[in-house]
Amino acid sequence: MNNNELITKINKLKKELDVSIVAHFYQKDEVFNMADFTGDSLELAKWAAKDKKANLIFCGVGFMGQSVKILAPNKRVFMPKIACCAMARMIDVDYYDENVKILEKAGIKKEDIMPVTYINSSAEVKARVGQMGGYVCTSSNAKKIITKALESGKKILFVPDRCLGQNIAIDMGLKSCVIGDGTDLNSADIICYNGFCSVHQLFEVEDIEFYRQKYPDILIATHPECKPEVCAKSDFVGSTSQIIKYIKELPIEQKIAVGTEFNMVNRLREKNTFVLSSTKPECPTMNETTLEDLYNTLISIKEKRYENEIIISEEVRKNSYLALSRMFEL
Ligand code: 13P
Ligand code: SF4
Repeated sequence: MNNNELITKINKLKKELDVSIVAHFYQKDEVFNMADFTGDSLELAKWAAKDKKANLIFCGVGFMGQSVKILAPNKRVFMPKIACCAMARMIDVDYYDENVKILEKAGIKKEDIMPVTYINSSAEVKARVGQMGGYVCTSSNAKKIITKALESGKKILFVPDRCLGQNIAIDMGLKSCVIGDGTDLNSADIICYNGFCSVHQLFEVEDIEFYRQKYPDILIATHPECKPEVCAKSDFVGSTSQIIKYIKELPIEQKIAVGTEFNMVNRLREKNTFVLSSTKPECPTMNETTLEDLYNTLISIKEKRYENEIIISEEVRKNSYLALSRMFEL
């Protein structure tokens, strides 16, 4: 089937079935265009959990579909591809526990640790964080959540993205370190796990210098998963939605170079918009989802085969809900 045929069939199935489709900004255009709602990870979780349809198809990466299932357990959540974010895959519960032990060995008692996990983590890691009284955050609210977490007077253990943790620390005038970088863990306010996003690691200070030299008036917008030195040299740092909003408010003549995933940057504006890298910054897992996968998921719901459904054990769901709901309370 070609894309036009698939689009017609998908639209027909959407009308027949009690289903909503959501898509993250990094999805391929043809998939993105089929969604009832699009957004950053926080907006998608909020919208999907409140949506009244019995079935949800989430076009994104695994932790995003899981977040909806944690928040709305009675909803059936499906993913056309259960693609796992590479950063989320960098930490599992065993690594999490090992890193808590490293802090304990350094003399920080478990009860003096306040964990905060970026939403880009598995339900199991969120459950561990929930059990320890901690929070989930996203790139759009990390500063707010860390501010709240610091009120406990405890050390923040931030997992898994070292860059987001370090960027927030710099923004708040706090001291951060990355576990294993040789820093005395006791001297840091925010202790970061050594995880990162391989897509956002592509952006370099040299890329910013290149564009500033070429177009002296250009603006630079980056995602907080970029390296701290890259964010420090940017004019704007924000979540995917925040970047879109920032750019929408600029005059079209204003040139801008953007440091985030290619699919999103490519559909931002018709002109004067550049990808802040000479290497195409594509997220391999976000790009796994195709129109055909979306069609197959709809068919499997129609035929009651329910393929690629997100299932989370009630034990993990309850504990991960604690960490997620603490974020929503704020
Ligand atoms: P946003 O929350 O900004 O959409 O980011 C999600 C993500 O995975 C970025 O790489
Ligand atoms: Fe994960 Fe990076 Fe892809 Fe975002 S861009 S989904 S953090 S691998």
